[in-house]
Amino acid sequence: MNVSNVTGSNVIGVDIGGSGIKGAPVDLTGGGLAQERFKVLTPQPSSPDAVADRVRQVVDHFGWSDAPVGATFPGVVVGGTARTAANVDKAWIGVDAAALLGERLGRPVTVLNDADAAGMAEMTFGAGRGRTGTVIVLTFGTGIGSALFSGGRLVPNTELGHLELKGHDAEKRASSRAKEDEGLSWERWARRVQKYLAHVEALFSPELFVIGGGVSRKADKFLPLIRGISAEIVPAALQNDAGIVGAGMAAAAAAGGAPVRAAADAL
Ligand code: BGC
Repeated sequence: MNVSNVTGSNVIGVDIGGSGIKGAPVDLTGGGLAQERFKVLTPQPSSPDAVADRVRQVVDHFGWSDAPVGATFPGVVVGGTARTAANVDKAWIGVDAAALLGERLGRPVTVLNDADAAGMAEMTFGAGRGRTGTVIVLTFGTGIGSALFSGGRLVPNTELGHLELKGHDAEKRASSRAKEDEGLSWERWARRVQKYLAHVEALFSPELFVIGGGVSRKADKFLPLIRGISAEIVPAALQNDAGIVGAGMAAAAAAGGAPVRAAADAL
């Protein structure tokens, strides 16, 4: 997939999460938001129909009726179809999300995994820019999302948040939701994140971990507490906007044209 027409802010990115749905026109030249983002709550239950309505609300807010839209989804997405739904309604499994959203918005919509989108944005505009070795972008939020890159190319849908840690699904212990739900101090949570990173490092030996998700804004509170990891660990540069930017990149890619970076080719 090639990223196209990346000279202006002519695409809209939407990030669908377990608690919020946020979007904005994306500046594909500078790699940021072209306008302030607009956010609505994720409906509960987060059924496909209800979420599609809220995505429409977000996109309509900007009034660009023909701008291509890219949307992230917090689960495995293959060819636009959701294959898993760990933190949204299970009714999504097997749904052609690209077709559903495309029909609701009356225009082409490209759908990809949320962490893959964030990873593409970080590799192109952010903390992973110019890095050609193995890079793993991890997003800590309701779950843990992962994006794996080698030579700047994405291996989509890696789902490293579901590795087993102490007999548990890793994201149940080390996501930022786990920190909140269990009232963990930064120190205790950082210890869990450290064990998780050590496990991922043992499997993939990346040169760089990029730590994203909402919690990346507070990287100074926990990254200095993490020890014993050989890989470099840096906070995401685009922080919580990376998903929106990556979604916009995917929309531009689907529209065809010159590549921004090979990272998007894997989608
Ligand atoms: C999902 C991933 C997603 C991550 C972050 C996990 O539970 O399985 O697909 O990227 O949460 O939202």
